[in-house]
Amino acid sequence: TDPAIIRNFCIIAHIDHGKSTLADRMLQLTGVVQQRDMKAQYLDRMDIERERGITIKSQAVRIPWEVDGTAYCLNMIDTPGHVDFTYEVSRSLAACEGAILLVDAAQGIEAQTLANLYLAMENNLTIIPVLNKIDLPAAQPEKYALELANLIGGKPEDVLQVSGKTGMGVEALLDQIVRELPPPVGDANGPARAMIFDSVYDTYRGVVTYVRVIDGSLSPREKIQMMSTRATHELLEIGVSSPEPTPSKGLGVGEVGYLITGVKDVRQSKVGDTVTTFNKPATESLGGYQDAKPMVFSGLYPMDGTDYPVLRDALEKLMLNDAALIYEPETSAALGFGFRVGFLGLLHLEITRERLEREHNLDLISTAPNVEYQVTLEDKKVIHVTNPSEYPSGKIAEVREPMVAATILAPNEFVGAIMELCQSRRGILGGMDYLSEDRVEIRYRLPLAEIVFDFFDILKSKTRGYGSLDWKADGDQVADLVKVDILLQGEQVDAFSAITHRDKAYAYGVMMTGKLRELIPRQQFEVPIQAAIGARIIARESIRAIRKDVLAKCYGGDISRKRKLLEKQKEGKKRMKMVGRVEVPQEAFIAALTTG
Ligand code: GTP
Repeated sequence: TDPAIIRNFCIIAHIDHGKSTLADRMLQLTGVVQQRDMKAQYLDRMDIERERGITIKSQAVRIPWEVDGTAYCLNMIDTPGHVDFTYEVSRSLAACEGAILLVDAAQGIEAQTLANLYLAMENNLTIIPVLNKIDLPAAQPEKYALELANLIGGKPEDVLQVSGKTGMGVEALLDQIVRELPPPVGDANGPARAMIFDSVYDTYRGVVTYVRVIDGSLSPREKIQMMSTRATHELLEIGVSSPEPTPSKGLGVGEVGYLITGVKDVRQSKVGDTVTTFNKPATESLGGYQDAKPMVFSGLYPMDGTDYPVLRDALEKLMLNDAALIYEPETSAALGFGFRVGFLGLLHLEITRERLEREHNLDLISTAPNVEYQVTLEDKKVIHVTNPSEYPSGKIAEVREPMVAATILAPNEFVGAIMELCQSRRGILGGMDYLSEDRVEIRYRLPLAEIVFDFFDILKSKTRGYGSLDWKADGDQVADLVKVDILLQGEQVDAFSAITHRDKAYAYGVMMTGKLRELIPRQQFEVPIQAAIGARIIARESIRAIRKDVLAKCYGGDISRKRKLLEKQKEGKKRMKMVGRVEVPQEAFIAALTTG
């Protein structure tokens, strides 16, 4: 295909501003998907994506569009919107010449609108600002067109207005894409260089790798090479998605398509890597490649211990499809055999857990999530702690914790509440800007551990739903952290230990001991529950003794009824875990670990 008729673009937006819906309309309008095959969020192929209405993996589709009698070939790359998947967004952007910056006309600019815009600008993309959902009665197109124009320069009149729902304005938008975005440029005769912007595992076809060719070309049967690892693979199939996979004779400069090599693990074909050919290899990769870095760690345990092998196989399978997922076996005195798993963020954790449970019929317990701490011992040895049970006891020279640069956008009436929240989370104010008369951008540097769990929910409630948040990793800092242990009758329960800031240790101890007192049933003897930092007890509760006489209910007489009751009690015992002499019901562990 002649690069002059190619336009590569992506749609970037804050979550729920309507990317997938707009993409659906484009597929329909251009006849790529027939009316009868149309289903909402056509490109979101995973069940979880459809149910939750979110995009997790990027997708690319080729769509035809005619302007002034010339048939153009547009490649649309759909990108994930959630902050956990920012790396995939940035790789998708690097595969395009232009981006549609989509903003909900009833909401205006939000934190991820900005974050994505900055990523697009870093990649030198041409930006087309578009207001979406103008069919909504609450839409304020004039106000937000002005806001957008202020943000990226240009005139408010030039901001397109569309509705992904009704299809209004979508044709004009397609015309604009052809007219405004530059065609791709590259060296057609040079060594091949193609950037991987997505890689998915398919049960039938193995790994399907989505690429954008920058220079040269790729053809079927050719031997390709991954530039980061120098690994070579045979190209079994090459093609384009329109939107079903369609084999082609090859891909040239500016083209977007997929490669199939028969490899079984997405790690052999990683997002951000450069593909070249074995016979005429390029010398320089396209750059930008980086390994996905897990930010949040949690233990995953099967509810039923005999499911451990099922969980192990399930993780192994999932790993083929998720280059960001890392895990290692772990044992807990309380929960048995399980795995410590690293995630990009809490959403990634939730989705992974849901997929494991659903696709493999597992019931899982996940322990309280942790960030990764860097602990330097007095003998200069550095250890990375992702689990409170690995926290060294004594002889610590320094602990460092990961930090983030956070951007919060909200109407200015909430500035006070937001600053109060950030301050209480050990945040340092970085700066503040007004995007319009009543909308502020506030920047804070915060410890990751303080924002990754409940921060967003609290922010939402303090700003009545109007606040939005985006953050990215920003180095680390020395922190005054301690490990709080929870003891039942003097016996430490590893699953309840936590690493917290010294100022918050007491609050954690009181909260956890109080919670356990509610959750653990009375035993035949008194059970003290204590929270401790090292040997120092910082909080205590106790469960009073009781003699549980189930037979007392049966007023003598009926022997079969008595037997039934005893059976039932035995049943119940199976679901108990012993901590020393204390019986703790499984439910107590789950309840204590799941609710903040
Ligand atoms: P992510 O993929 O999670 O980033 O979300 P998204 O940006 O793709 O949003 P999506 O297309 O799923 O739309 C979010 C919600 O807005 C859905 O309930 C849509 O039905 C609705 N919506 C999208 N476009 C329009 C529109 O033009 N008008 C109206 N009224 N609703 C819309």
